[in-house]
Amino acid sequence: MKQREREGETEERREGERERRRGEKRNRERETTGATVGGGCGDGGASDGGCQSQIAARRPIASASASTSASASARWCVERALDWGPGGRPDLLVDDGGDLTLLIQERVRAEEEYEKTGKFPDIDCTSNAEFKILREIIKDGLKSDPKKYRKKVERIVGVSGETTTGAKRLYQMAAEGVLLFPAINVNDSVTKSKFDNIYGCRHSLPDGLVRATENMIAGKVVVVCGYGDVGKGCSAAVKRAGARVFMTEADPICALQAVMEGIPVLTLDDNIVSEADIFVTVAGNRNIITVNHMKKMQHWPIRQ
Ligand SMILES: NC(=O)c1ccc[n+]([C@@H]2O[C@H](COP(=O)([O-])OP(=O)(O)OC[C@H]3O[C@@H](n4cnc5c(N)ncnc54)[C@H](O)[C@@H]3O)[C@@H](O)[C@H]2O)c1
Repeated sequence: MKQREREGETEERREGERERRRGEKRNRERETTGATVGGGCGDGGASDGGCQSQIAARRPIASASASTSASASARWCVERALDWGPGGRPDLLVDDGGDLTLLIQERVRAEEEYEKTGKFPDIDCTSNAEFKILREIIKDGLKSDPKKYRKKVERIVGVSGETTTGAKRLYQMAAEGVLLFPAINVNDSVTKSKFDNIYGCRHSLPDGLVRATENMIAGKVVVVCGYGDVGKGCSAAVKRAGARVFMTEADPICALQAVMEGIPVLTLDDNIVSEADIFVTVAGNRNIITVNHMKKMQHWPIRQ
């Protein structure tokens, strides 16, 4: 009996040693991918990683080589979302971020231009990486069926904008007179923004962070950028999980609300950027965290 117990213990130790070596190997491999910082979540609109914000990679670690294939897979996903086989087309769009509506609108514009002039959209006329991908998608499909999206639009009854950033984009399109079908702003319904944005993110942020990092939130320093509905939920979640939380906020009322909740409000140019372990951007804006900020961040604040 004792002999068998000892054998069991030895095998356990060996397995522990093998796992330790596997862990070291994984870490070495990660070091060589050029991965950068250790935190980030939220959607904040479209990214290079998916056809809509929810698909955008939640994992904060991205290497340059991954982004090329991400663009290709994004293109494939967007096309598949609207490709319902021969004769099949959607009646309604549920658009979380406005990217799908933008694609349809730009493709219809390109089809009309192509019919008139025979010209394809110029991909290099923009330095915006997302817009380049969008134009590549449009160019790819234009040759095979130059009326495809105009046929789709005939059938589409309308679009619903599900998130703050998407709703703002749809309003912008409507103001410019380019919206091709009616849009419903679902986000601004109180039963959405005052529940999903706050309490949904209060749940999904820690879930996403823990899954992505396999680390505890307790004891970490977390900076949440933006104290709107989503920021309120996110900061409450990480605070309750035991993190030390700091906010950045552009709006004085929201900033004061954060202070009243006991959360210090700073700017990223304060020293906090070099001390924090996790950054959450929920301002729905660009250039919240810049390369200069990233250069000051800790290297590998979180390891798996
Ligand atoms: N992942 C999800 O499940 C989910 C759900 C809902 C909304 N969202 C997205 O989250 C983002 C925020 O949504 P929201 O409903 O909280 O919007 P919101 O407008 O209520 O809040 C945004 C806050 O960011 C602040 N802000 C703007 N620019 C800033 C800057 N430069 N620095 C600091 N603060 C700044 C604004 O003052 C505002 O208080 C949007 O992009 C939205 O689409 C994600």
